[in-house]
Amino acid sequence: MLIPVILSGGVGSRLWPLSREHYPKQLLALVGDKTLLQNTILRLQGLVEPLHPLMVCNESHRFLVAEQLRTIEICANNILLEPIGRNTAPAVAVAALQAIQQYPDALLLVLPADHLINATERFCETLKQAIPLAEANYLVTFGIVPDCPETGYGYIKAAQQIAQTAGFTVEKFVEKPNLAIAQDYVASGEYYWNSGMFLFKAKRYLEELEKFAPAIFTACQQALTHAVQDKDFLRLDAEYFRECPSDSIDYAVMEHTESAAILPLDAGWSDVGAWSALWAVSSHDAQGNVLLGDVIAENVQNSYLRAEHRLLAAIGLDNHIVIETADAVLVAHKDHVQDVKKIVTHLKASA
Ligand code: GDD
Ligand code: MG
Repeated sequence: MLIPVILSGGVGSRLWPLSREHYPKQLLALVGDKTLLQNTILRLQGLVEPLHPLMVCNESHRFLVAEQLRTIEICANNILLEPIGRNTAPAVAVAALQAIQQYPDALLLVLPADHLINATERFCETLKQAIPLAEANYLVTFGIVPDCPETGYGYIKAAQQIAQTAGFTVEKFVEKPNLAIAQDYVASGEYYWNSGMFLFKAKRYLEELEKFAPAIFTACQQALTHAVQDKDFLRLDAEYFRECPSDSIDYAVMEHTESAAILPLDAGWSDVGAWSALWAVSSHDAQGNVLLGDVIAENVQNSYLRAEHRLLAAIGLDNHIVIETADAVLVAHKDHVQDVKKIVTHLKASA
């Protein structure tokens, strides 16, 4: 049984002011008319039958997530509610523990809810190739050929090809290296970016988690044992989950395991981490602009202008991002959009 696990706990702060804590980017229709979360699930139609994903999200998003599933007519296996974010290692752990109760040999396809993938068919082909590797007890990662020294990603160095498969064993998994190291990795041509998607046996992940992060394993076990099913939602026990150390699957498990495998993935992947990334993946007009909503642009090039509530008029801009919302407006040069995070931190501190 292959169970998609959809991680929907992030806040997407670099896409402020559209993405907010209570309405984060995965729940927004950033490209097209479906949200990123809906597309993450719909992409699997035809590949995963029956398609009943296991959702893991913060309890404050429960109705939004449930409603978004309802509108695409998808019935979740369950919706696991976290009382507080403890990062991805625990989120995947509770999903794995829940899955093996029903299907002891379950394979988990872990998917972040906030990525874009253009070439769905190629994506599904690669996922199919990953299944025998996961059946053979590998923790399979999907590697993207890097085009810049991004420091917000994990880097994976492939080793030997695994006989009769398209996958490779992993020599090294380095989560978020500093810029100098990332530059060396990209220049060497030997590294892939970790796409943040994984396929493995639920049991195998739990074995590795117990080995490398026993405190997370135990806290998640307790939080699930004491969880309460509340209609469509499974509420993790708040006290046990609060005690769980916060760590990502990448730091807690993938950097340490000797069972990692990598499959190269070439499917137009983007994690739409910042406004510049969203500009890059959207369709542009002849001037290279993306104009959304009530926008008038004069002598504007290579820019992303989005009006949600009012008329937005711009003159003489090049490589800019302007986002108008009901209560906040962002104006930024495209080269500086990573710093949107700083604004959000500042706003939180002064709230
Ligand atoms: N349920 C739940 N709970 N989901 C979470 C939580 C949590 O506490 N924290 C994060 N997520 C979700 C996010 O919504 C996102 O979809 C996914 O898990 C990954 O989390 P990020 O916080 O976005 O991770 P990252 O971008 O720093 O790094 C990961 O992704 C990169 C590629 O986008 C790593 O896997 C990197 O190695 C990878 O390169
Ligand atoms: Mg991310």
